[in-house]
Amino acid sequence: MAKLKLGVLISGRGTNLQALIDACADEAYPAEIAIVISNVADVKGLERAREAGIRSLVINHREFESRESFDEAVASALNTHEVGLICLAGFMRLLTRNFVERWRDRIINIHPSLLPSFKGLNVHERVLDAGVRITGATVHFIRAEMDEGPIICQGAMAVSAEDTPETLANRVLEIEHQLYPLAVRLIAEGKVRVAGETVPYVDIGDPGGPLINPRT
Ligand code: GAR
Repeated sequence: MAKLKLGVLISGRGTNLQALIDACADEAYPAEIAIVISNVADVKGLERAREAGIRSLVINHREFESRESFDEAVASALNTHEVGLICLAGFMRLLTRNFVERWRDRIINIHPSLLPSFKGLNVHERVLDAGVRITGATVHFIRAEMDEGPIICQGAMAVSAEDTPETLANRVLEIEHQLYPLAVRLIAEGKVRVAGETVPYVDIGDPGGPLINPRT
């Protein structure tokens, strides 16, 4: 079967991109990265793409007059590379409603909290300030509002008394690196659908981690 073509959008170091690159290196994985697009030049994520021999390009939002024209340039690059699924991987720009609607249920994002809690930035500081006992990561389809949309899967872990924002970020990142390739695989295998504004449950057996719970 033809592999699902991914367009990965990044703004920085790209460790989630790396997790996808590593997953795609397996012949049996049902997706491949067609293009990596960064809105920031010279970031580590671009180096990762180059090292893996994956096509990449910089579309610098500062060179565009409006959000619409930036999104238009991104859409055109994604179409050129026949992308079937857009993966936001630390992509720190809001996409326009028009763009999101055009790619409805074909754009996913990874966020370092158990959504719908702790949307936005500085998640781990806010998790500690709120005193929650459990945190984690979420992969979801995106909507025009930031960090909104049907949840595909989540991974959770306990917050310890010794945690700092840095230790939390590192441990949540380990979950992210398992979760993102898993979500992409489930989508590529046709196991994920959106009904209303949720993703209905399908039993996929042991997902490979006690607190990784792909509700698909
Ligand atoms: C990740 O922790 C990701 O969840 C977060 O940015 C980081 C990117 O790291 N994304 C968001 O906060 C989106 N709202 P990476 O560049 O190493 O993948």
